[in-house]
Amino acid sequence: MEGWQGWDQYAEFYDWENAKTVGRRDIRFWQRIAKESGGPVLELGCGTGRVSLPVARTLVRLVGIDRSHAMLSQAKRRVKRAGLGGGLLLLRGDIRALPFVSSSRFRLVMAPYGVLQSLLRDRELREVLTSVRDVLQPGGIFAIDLVPELPVWREYDRRVSLRGRRGAKSQISLVESVRQVPSRKLTIFDQEFIERRGRSRSSKRFSLAFRTLSVHQMTGRLRRAGFSVVQVAGDYRMGAWRPEAEVCLIVAKRKL
Ligand SMILES: C[S@@+](CC[C@H](N)C(=O)[O-])C[C@H]1O[C@@H](n2cnc3c(N)ncnc32)[C@H](O)[C@@H]1O
Repeated sequence: MEGWQGWDQYAEFYDWENAKTVGRRDIRFWQRIAKESGGPVLELGCGTGRVSLPVARTLVRLVGIDRSHAMLSQAKRRVKRAGLGGGLLLLRGDIRALPFVSSSRFRLVMAPYGVLQSLLRDRELREVLTSVRDVLQPGGIFAIDLVPELPVWREYDRRVSLRGRRGAKSQISLVESVRQVPSRKLTIFDQEFIERRGRSRSSKRFSLAFRTLSVHQMTGRLRRAGFSVVQVAGDYRMGAWRPEAEVCLIVAKRKL
């Protein structure tokens, strides 16, 4: 099992589902931090552009990178619809080996919505932290959003966890199972999206796996990779971190 798997199959449902879950609640945070940096900004795992487009609208130059062809296709469609100009570049690539020469330096690297939790092994996290350090300007910011509650999610088997309409003719249900593998710090979601249009029914099954470190473990790995940790927050207004918080934001700085 690999953390980058499953996203191609998920792509056509990602925006539908996330409009009902995370929505836009993190967008202002990313816009603010991107504007403060002045750009250029790199977004790790830009997916369907949920964060990239609103950040690019603030006129900060942004490069988004993602391994999933299908997620990127959704993002590119959105960019075209929005008529956004040349300040936004979307690239296919793996965040474990960023495809930039050392002269392309970013002022900010963003890791929104748990993307670092798609790295299922410590070695992979180390590779990403090293790559990020190398593409950041000295003193540049690495901002990370984690979903800390995953390890305490209750396990369940084939539960209808979402149901709703998409457009006038389509009805979608998400049937989901959750498994915990504490020995590897993994939470695995087995998902089946079932779409009904009139009398026809189609379904797509895939799994997504996430690895969740404690805040202490993550900040320790950042320090060892050459970052200083500037702030750890428990909400998008930078309120204090607490273990029961729904989000964990870590702002780190590349050492000079
Ligand atoms: C939770 S989504 C986040 C998408 C977007 N940033 C957002 O906030 O809506 C995680 C994204 O990371 C991508 N991803 C996972 N592992 C990756 C890897 N090793 N290299 C590049 N992209 C990866 C997935 O394809 C997916 O689009």
